[in-house]
Amino acid sequence: MTRMRIYLLAMALVSISMAAQAVDQARMDRFIDDLMGKMTLQEKIGQLNLPVTGDIITGSTVSGDVVGKIKAGQVGGLFNMKGVKSIRQLQEVAVKQSRLGIPLIFGMDVIHGYETVFPIPFAMSMSWDMEAIRNSARIASIEATADGICWTFSPMVDICREPRWGRMSEGNGEDPFLGSAICRAMIEGYQGADLADKTSMMACVKHFALYGAPEAGRDYNTVDMSHVRMFNEYFPPYKAGVDAGAGSFMTSFNVIDYIPATGNRWLMTEVLRDRWGFDGFVVTDYTAISEMINHGMGDLQTVSALALNAGTDMDMVADGFLGTLEKSLDEGKVTIDDIDKACRRILEAKYKLGLFDDPYRYLDSKRASKEIYTAEHRAAARKLATETFVLLQNKDNVLPLQRTAKIALVGPLANTRANMPGTWSVAAASDRYSTLLEAMRRAVGDRGEVMYAKGCNVCYDAELEKNSTMFGREMRDERPVDVMRDEALRIARECDVIVAAMGEPSEMSGESSSRSELTILDAQKDLLTALLATGKPIVLLNFSGRTTVMDWEVENIPTILNVWFGGSEAADAICDVVFGDVSPSGKLSATMPRSVGQVPVYYNHLNTGRPNPKWFTKFTSNYLDVPNEPLFPFGYGLSYTTFNYSPMTLSSNSMSASGSIQASVTVTNTGSREGAEVVQLYIRDLVGSIARPVQELKGFERINLKPGESRQVTFTIDADLLKFYNKDLDYVCEPGDFEVMIGTDSRNVQRKQFTLR
Ligand code: BGC
Repeated sequence: MTRMRIYLLAMALVSISMAAQAVDQARMDRFIDDLMGKMTLQEKIGQLNLPVTGDIITGSTVSGDVVGKIKAGQVGGLFNMKGVKSIRQLQEVAVKQSRLGIPLIFGMDVIHGYETVFPIPFAMSMSWDMEAIRNSARIASIEATADGICWTFSPMVDICREPRWGRMSEGNGEDPFLGSAICRAMIEGYQGADLADKTSMMACVKHFALYGAPEAGRDYNTVDMSHVRMFNEYFPPYKAGVDAGAGSFMTSFNVIDYIPATGNRWLMTEVLRDRWGFDGFVVTDYTAISEMINHGMGDLQTVSALALNAGTDMDMVADGFLGTLEKSLDEGKVTIDDIDKACRRILEAKYKLGLFDDPYRYLDSKRASKEIYTAEHRAAARKLATETFVLLQNKDNVLPLQRTAKIALVGPLANTRANMPGTWSVAAASDRYSTLLEAMRRAVGDRGEVMYAKGCNVCYDAELEKNSTMFGREMRDERPVDVMRDEALRIARECDVIVAAMGEPSEMSGESSSRSELTILDAQKDLLTALLATGKPIVLLNFSGRTTVMDWEVENIPTILNVWFGGSEAADAICDVVFGDVSPSGKLSATMPRSVGQVPVYYNHLNTGRPNPKWFTKFTSNYLDVPNEPLFPFGYGLSYTTFNYSPMTLSSNSMSASGSIQASVTVTNTGSREGAEVVQLYIRDLVGSIARPVQELKGFERINLKPGESRQVTFTIDADLLKFYNKDLDYVCEPGDFEVMIGTDSRNVQRKQFTLR
C-alpha cells in the first residue's frame, strides 16, 4: 500500500471514529445527574482539585496529604506519577476508600513521546510531516495509556516569535497555519479513533492563551497585544484544537488585557466556549490560581472565585478551589450553578474516557511490559527525527561523510545520554538511549574510526551550566580548560574531519529557561575557533531548543546541521543523516535572527510606510548596524539533493467568493540523491480594510522524490483561505487583488496575482 493510501485510510478511520466518539449524550447526562444527586458540596469541589504527587517535579510547590484527601473525596485527579503499580494504588484508594468511589483521572506531561521520545515539538514542526506527527502522538498515547496515563498536557500550541523564551522548544514555531495543522494532527493522534479506546488519551491544548509572547522573552512575563493580532496570528492553533475535539484546555500564566488568563472571563467563556463552542473542561496551569495573588488580583479566596467565575474548572496544585469555594458560596461570591457546571465537565471527561465503566482500564501491567519502547515505536521516532534536522549550509559538500573517514567527534554534547531526549521528556528512560559517540561508532563499525574528546564544557560559567543542565542532566567536567582543549586539538589533527556536537544543553530551553543572548556559548566558540585553526573541515551539529543567533558560525564554519533535540533515537537519526543514508529535509518553522536585537523577527509581518528590505537608507525602516533580513528565513532548509521548480500556473486570474483557483508547480529532483522537499504556498492580500501581512503561509506539501523524478503539486485556493478577522473581529474575505507565492522557503518564491470578485 502506498504511503498516501495508508494516510487516506488512516484519515477515514479518524473521521469514522470522530463520529463513534460522540457518546450517547442522554445516557451520560442521566448517569452524571444521578451521581451528582448523591454528591455533597465538598465532594463536588473535590472533583475540581488536581494536586501533584511530587514524583516528577514540574513546578515550585508540592501537594500535601494526597492520600488523605483522596479518601475524603477531595481529589479529582493526579498528575505526573509514573507506573501502573503506583497509579493503581491510588486509584484503589479513590474507588474503594472514598464515599462515592469516583475514579481519579491521571494526567502527565506526555509532550513529545513517552519512553520512546520523539523530537521536541519545535523540532517536529520542522518536518512539516503531519502524518508522522500524528503518528508520534498515537505512539505516545499507546505507551502512556499502557502505563496508566489517560490525559496528557499536550499539545502546546503557543505561537512564538520570541527565541529568548525557553518554551519556544515546546511549540510549533511562529506560523498560525502550520501550528493549526500540527495541533489537529496531535489531537487526532492522542484521542485517536475513539477516546474510549484503551490506547487513547485525552488531549489538553495549552497554554490558553498567548503564553508565547512574553515581554522581553522572560518566562511568565506580561503579554499585551491587540485583539486583531490575537485572532489572526495567535489564536488560530487554539481554535484548531477546539475544532479537532480536544477534551481539555489549560490556562496560561500570563495576563491578557491586564487580567491573568486563569481569571479572564472574556477569554475562558466568551471566546473559548461561547464563540468557539468548546465543551470540554479547563484546567489551570501549575498554581496559576494562587499566582493571581502576586498579579495583584486579591487574596486566595478572591482569586479562586475569579477563576471559577471566568469559566476555569479545575485547579492544578493551588488548593484555591478546595480551600475557599465553600466560603465563597456562603458569601454569594460564586454560585452553586457554576460549581455544578465545573464538576459536571470533569465527570463528563471521566465518563468519556470510560473510567466509570472500569477505573482500572489503563492499569494493565501486561500492556506496560509489551507496548512501551518497542522496536516499531523506536523506528518511527528515528525516522521522524531525521526529518527534523535543518541543513543550514553545506559548503564544499562536506556532508554527507564517508563511513571510511577518520572522524574527530568533539564537543560537550557528543557523549551525553541524559541530554539527548530534550526538555519536557518527563517519562524518558534515558539510560536506554544512545549517546552520539556510541551511535557514531556503531554506524562506522570497523570501516572507519571515530575518536572522541569533549574539548570544553558548555560554558565557562559553572553556575550558568548548572542551571542549564537540571533534572539529572549535569555534565560539567572539572579538568582545566587548556587540558580539555589540547586533547580535542590533538585528535582533530589526526583526523580527516571534525564533527562538533555543540549548542545548548537540553535544559537551556524549556520552562523557566529564558536567555538574553542567543549566540553560541563562550567556551564552545573558543574551542571552535581553535579547531578552525587546524585547517580541517568542520561539521557543526548544533543542538538547541530555540532559534539561535549563528552569524559567526555561518561566516566561519562551512557545514552546519541544526539538530535541535531529536528524542530517544536522536543519536542514530543524526548518524543516518550525517552518513547520507537519509538526506536532510527539515525546514525552519521560525525565522532565524541575525542578532538578538532583531527579535521579534518573523516572516508574516506587516509592511511599514517606509519599507526597506535592503541595507541602511536614511528615513526608511531599518537598523544602522544590521540588515532587516534574518539570517535564514522561515521555511528554509537545504538537502543533499537539489530541486527545480517549474513556472507556476494559475487556473484562472480571477475567482468569485464561491469559486476556487488552482495554483500548480512541477518539482523535479535534479540532484543525484533521493530527498524530500516541502513545497510552500503563501498569499498576500494586497489591499484590505486593515493592514495585511506581506505574506502568509496558506498551504504546504511534503513530497519525496527520487533522482530525476518530478511531481506536480497543486494547491486549491478558495475564499475560506483568504479570510481574516477585521477590525470588528468578523471573519471575512474582502474582494480585491491577491498575490500567490509558491516556493522552497518564504523568501525564494515565484509570484502571480489574481482577483477575488
Ligand atoms: C507548565 C505546564 C505543565 C504543568 C504540569 C507547568 O509548570 O507550564 O506546561 O503542563 O506545569 O506539569
